[in-house]
Amino acid sequence: MRHARSLPSAKPAARSAKGHPVTGLAFVLLSALVVPGPVVAADDDAALAARGRALYQGHAAFARGSGVTALRLPVAMAACARCHGATGAGGREGGQPVPPLRAAALRQPREGRPALADDAAVLRAVTQGQGRGGAALAPAMPRYALQPGEAQALLAYLHRVGTEQDRPPGVTDGAIRLGSVVPLGGPAAATGAALVAGLRAGFAEVNARGGVHGRRIDLQVQDARAGVRQALAAWQDEPVFALVGGLWNEAQEGADALLAQAHLSHIATLVVREQSPRAADWSADLLAPVALQRDALVRALASCPAGARVAVAHGDGATASASAGTQVRWLAPQSDVRAALRQEQAGCIGYTLARAPAVQAALPAGWTQTLVLPMPAAVLEPAPAGERAATPWYRLGLAAARLTTELLSRAGRALYERALLDALDRMPEQELSPGLLVHYGRQRRHGFSPLLVPLGVSADAAPSAFRQGG
Ligand code: HEC
Repeated sequence: MRHARSLPSAKPAARSAKGHPVTGLAFVLLSALVVPGPVVAADDDAALAARGRALYQGHAAFARGSGVTALRLPVAMAACARCHGATGAGGREGGQPVPPLRAAALRQPREGRPALADDAAVLRAVTQGQGRGGAALAPAMPRYALQPGEAQALLAYLHRVGTEQDRPPGVTDGAIRLGSVVPLGGPAAATGAALVAGLRAGFAEVNARGGVHGRRIDLQVQDARAGVRQALAAWQDEPVFALVGGLWNEAQEGADALLAQAHLSHIATLVVREQSPRAADWSADLLAPVALQRDALVRALASCPAGARVAVAHGDGATASASAGTQVRWLAPQSDVRAALRQEQAGCIGYTLARAPAVQAALPAGWTQTLVLPMPAAVLEPAPAGERAATPWYRLGLAAARLTTELLSRAGRALYERALLDALDRMPEQELSPGLLVHYGRQRRHGFSPLLVPLGVSADAAPSAFRQGG
């Protein structure tokens, strides 16, 4: 008898609004706003809203675009989120105020005009530009030629935009799943292990404080040796909200394009890049790009009192920037430093961290050395006695986790795919731990500035802390 009935609650109901324990009241309120019609199961409604969300956020294109211009607006231009905000909070576009689209706002009178009382009224605004009380909306609001399925999907999503049910993949009521892709074996195994330990330590700090806005952080790590594409496939069923502190060979992977396609932002990338990512990209780096490291070297070598000026950089542009009367001789990334220096009289030499071992092994006495680092010196300081964990890669992992936590905290509880990148654009300079200053902005998508370290006149090798790795 006891087993005769199967309990309906045995089916996990976390994604169905109706079955949600906390948001039950919100659902009742929302369902009062839905136009009477065929009763749809909550799961169907969720699927419909997910499709509407893709249209609203610009992850999918409207089939027929915008009617008034008879043009199909590009996906990014047609996205409601571009003007009304990713959480429907409204904003400004081209100097014009854009009203909020949250259900609660639409159903209220505004500025002496009546409410958009039901879905039909909202649809008339979207397709015919007919606003409150029948007044024509300003031309800044496009007129959309919606397919029937699109209209339904969009309306389903407009009931939840900006509410607790409106969540990007990887975010639940109580947790945020983040991913990282780092080498977990092979020659870079120790680097990867230290990085993951730093990331985990950083997220353990915030989870011990109760998480961010009531959500704990759950870090999922995949092996960079299998590739980023493989990692994304592994997260297909249980998606992550964003990547943090990933380390892979971008030239080999082309991962940036994959992440953009998947609408996955990548915070505090540790990939070494030629140029900083652009504002429209989905990545924000931690390390200073190679191009800026080279610029810093040229400036440092310009003040060399006498003798040869030689720069040894990694990265593709090293020979290209040998141009333009800098009087600096660049050694190409793979050149034999020892052979090259034998032909020069002593002078000043500047080099990047990745070439430091080659330069230090080959440098004759008498050269004035400058090392350029893609990060603050604090990353490389020797660990305090008894603190084995504090290697450079551990500190970078910790910094990546703290930066992500700060951005999650600034973004608030209403998250969307680019929420962290948007928060980064607005974040003032931050000190993530003593001496680890990061600085971002719309035109600046790397946190650290290049640091010049004068090492004096060569006689012996530089301190071992400057060797890469570990
Ligand atoms: C290019 C910017 C832009 C885009 C894209 C855009 N809107 Fe608008 N929308 C506006 C502006 C501006 C107004 C206010 C016009 C006015 O007050 O005359 C508006 C008004 C509205 C209104 C009336 C709101 C009210 O409270 O009166 C609705 C509903 C609306 N938009 C829905 C949408 C939806 C849904 C989408 C996507 C399918 C969308 N809009 C895309 C700019 C935009």
